Amino acid sequence: MEPFSAVQISEHVWWVGAIDWTVRNFHGYLTSRGTTYNAYLILGDPVTLIDTVKRPFRDEMMARVASVVDPLRIQAIVSHHAEMDHSGSLPDVVRAVQPEKVYASRNGVAALGRHFDIGHEITPVGDGETLSLGDLSLTFLETRMLHWPDSMISYLAEDRLVFSQDGFGMHLASCERFDDQLPPEVLRYEAAKYFANILMPLSRFVDKLYARLDELKLDIALIAPDHGPVWRGDVAGILERWRAWAEQKPARKAVVVYDTMWQSTETMARAIADGIAAGGAAVVAMPLSAAHRSDVATEILDAGALLVGSPTINNEMFPTVADCLTYLKGLRPKNLIGAAFGSCGWSGEAPKHVAQTLGEMGVELVAEPLRIKYVPTSDDLLECRKLGELVAARLSALCPE
Ligand code: FEO
Repeated sequence: MEPFSAVQISEHVWWVGAIDWTVRNFHGYLTSRGTTYNAYLILGDPVTLIDTVKRPFRDEMMARVASVVDPLRIQAIVSHHAEMDHSGSLPDVVRAVQPEKVYASRNGVAALGRHFDIGHEITPVGDGETLSLGDLSLTFLETRMLHWPDSMISYLAEDRLVFSQDGFGMHLASCERFDDQLPPEVLRYEAAKYFANILMPLSRFVDKLYARLDELKLDIALIAPDHGPVWRGDVAGILERWRAWAEQKPARKAVVVYDTMWQSTETMARAIADGIAAGGAAVVAMPLSAAHRSDVATEILDAGALLVGSPTINNEMFPTVADCLTYLKGLRPKNLIGAAFGSCGWSGEAPKHVAQTLGEMGVELVAEPLRIKYVPTSDDLLECRKLGELVAARLSALCPE
């Protein structure tokens, strides 16, 4: 009896991954619900391990393998992606089981070589190449930049199953292995958060993947990602959501992000948000003292407007605002209108700096930066409200119902 057990997910495939209930920081992304590192075992000939797990979870993965087969029966390992949450245990597993073959994409061979000395030759597999596993066949598709240059996915035809690596994943720790065992609203939020924070800047490669999937007309019953649940209940739904997120069509929704020193910029933000709502658009106000940058990115994924407020400190924008804007700029959101605002004492550079960064991000600015001195008066707040109403009107024109 092993302390951890595998879960059968299809006729020939078992989940042998690990659950990380603890992790909250995934290279700057707040993983509020932890994550899983999914590895899979194909009981073919040879027995094949699909990916591994982050190194501290190696023993958990090996125990799950041992609950199904003697780990020494693993004679092939496929590494879909070299990032260490999936390859971290690879050198140890290779040393322990001495497989006949280790496979990766051509870029994967190079990337793994820059991470580890795994002490074993890695065989490159090309786009469209099929590996025979006895009665089973595993076909590889390169998915460069989804989300590293080495990334690939594979399709096990007999089980109509796609091993999608980071694709269609989410950071969600759970003992449930399938989407239809989890609350739909949690799945929707965490899948969107994952897309926004990892895939948003790479949307054009998502389009390429869809073109390829359309061309191949794969019959897909299951999608098995490297994070989060296996999709079996709503395969069509997650494929459709990814397609929509990659398009980032503007919607009648505004995100108002800000920080504040003495509540003046916050008061401005509240009046702007009220004006947006009064103008008929949805609005989410996100004070950076309470909202994480990765949650801001998630809200922007289905928004049409981004308004950013910052007080001025030492002639610069507030550090939390600079942090958030740097992060958002890297994610390259598309199709946004926006504006900058903020209270200041004397020099008041921050709204100008914010507006400049929004412009560099390709956000279409609908107004000059709105600055007020010290504490907003009633007239100042009316001006803020009018800015909100203007944004709502522009959103209505851009997104007719
Ligand atoms: Fe889950 Fe890109 O690694």
